[in-house]
Amino acid sequence: MIITLVGYMGSGKSTAGKDLAKAIGYEFIDLDHYIEDKFQLKISEIFEKEGELGFRKKERAALLELLTSTNLVLSLGGGTPVYYNNMEEITKNSISFFLRVQLPQLVKRLDGKKETRPLIAHLTNEEMMEFVAKHLFERNQFYEKAKYTISISEQSTLQVLDEIMNHLK
Ligand code: S3P
Repeated sequence: MIITLVGYMGSGKSTAGKDLAKAIGYEFIDLDHYIEDKFQLKISEIFEKEGELGFRKKERAALLELLTSTNLVLSLGGGTPVYYNNMEEITKNSISFFLRVQLPQLVKRLDGKKETRPLIAHLTNEEMMEFVAKHLFERNQFYEKAKYTISISEQSTLQVLDEIMNHLK
């Protein structure tokens, strides 16, 4: 079985994924880290060298490769579900969870964590609010295709894990 976590940057996919994998004894992979290891380049370097399209191609190839695994918790990039027919592949080959975080909280969570994320690295917090709002409007329709939605507001990481585990019972 493969479990995937989708959602916007800063929604806590990697944290929840690591916790979940530990709790159920599965391997954990973060798609961005997998791509960085595979190509020995940081995500920001791939964007610089090959543009976003180059990154999306690598991301798609890595996704398809990993979706053939077993006993894996895979946290995806915020844009992964949006390109090609990735979301179709994700829902077909895994149990998918959308971690939904509301806009103000997302922007708060991304403050100070922008540098490694080329799409928002250059934005001020004010610009980010507008950018993320537009992005969510475009992307939510893809995220919402996940099998389960976990709405995150004030929950602790433990509560998020609990909610995911309840769906897996
Ligand atoms: C992106 C999200 C990032 C990373 C890249 C693009 C996006 O992943 O894949 O910077 O388009 O939302 P995280 O969601 O893990 O930050």
